[in-house]
Amino acid sequence: MTIRIGVIGAGGRGKLAWHAHRPEDDVYIVAAADPREEILGEYRNRFGESCLVTRDYRELLEAELDAVFICSPDYLHEEHACAALERGLSVYLEKPMAITTEGCDRILETSRRHGATLFVGHNMRYMRLFRKMKQLIDQGCVGEVKSIWCRHFISYGGDAYFRDWHSERRFSNGLLLQKGVHDIDVIHWLAGGYSRNVSAFGNNAVYHRLPRRRPEERGCARFDRSHWPPMAQKGFSPVIDVEDQNVVIMELENGILATYMQCHFTPDACRNYTVIGTEGRLENYGDGPESPIMLWNQ
Ligand SMILES: NC(=O)c1ccc[n+]([C@@H]2O[C@H](COP(=O)([O-])OP(=O)(O)OC[C@H]3O[C@@H](n4cnc5c(N)ncnc54)[C@H](O)[C@@H]3O)[C@@H](O)[C@H]2O)c1
Repeated sequence: MTIRIGVIGAGGRGKLAWHAHRPEDDVYIVAAADPREEILGEYRNRFGESCLVTRDYRELLEAELDAVFICSPDYLHEEHACAALERGLSVYLEKPMAITTEGCDRILETSRRHGATLFVGHNMRYMRLFRKMKQLIDQGCVGEVKSIWCRHFISYGGDAYFRDWHSERRFSNGLLLQKGVHDIDVIHWLAGGYSRNVSAFGNNAVYHRLPRRRPEERGCARFDRSHWPPMAQKGFSPVIDVEDQNVVIMELENGILATYMQCHFTPDACRNYTVIGTEGRLENYGDGPESPIMLWNQ
């Protein structure tokens, strides 16, 4: 069966869709929508003249398609996803689903109403390290889970989130959603339950104090290891109204207590999880696919 895929928000993360282009399996990228001409040129070069390229996602949705990848900035997800689902297309939608609860509800409702498949890109559930942690928990290696803690150190925070649309609440609703959505999802998944009560704090401790780029200059959100220390950096977004550090405490519906801490001005980058149960504790040392998971159970 031939599968024809369109990509909305074709630059940046949109190139994830390139993995889905498998002519040997009869799966093709046939269309791309993005306001940036250079991105559209890349699609033409890679997928040929028959690939429809357009600045307007509505034109892409007019094409003969079976599925779309939606990798546009967060504040556009609701509009793009609902338009695709209304056409009955299968949708891969990048996280976060939308930037408001109402937006998420509307996407879910549209998917159900049109019987269209929706897959939200919570890709951490598919990472080897976290699947292994989940497997150990499900095997009972720590007994009955009671606590989960996650500390998230983001060395690339200043580069990736404070130089373009991510830094504005109206576009991202904040990094606790934009970035933390991965870990809060994993916490819920490992715990087998969702949050019932939540308390959280956040502030902007570093980046709002630093020199900005002019509004007419294009932001460059590209990680550079030499950008250190944070206080010596410049060229940040003209508008920064999101937090660069957060602490969250959660009481889950199944009684498990969880914490999540996110910091965007660390020298290192790592997600460090610990899961404590009635018969042990496990913790990842490093977050690569082969990183060790330590287990204390006696
Ligand atoms: N799952 C993950 O690990 C992961 C990683 C990175 C990004 N993401 C998600 O992917 C999405 C994109 O993030 P990014 O970092 O690639 O951002 P980005 O700004 O680098 O790329 C977004 C792309 O969308 C395009 N775009 C902007 N307005 C558009 C419009 N009206 N119509 C069509 N395209 C438009 C931009 O030109 C750009 O090419 C975000 O929702 C982000 O949360 C997920």
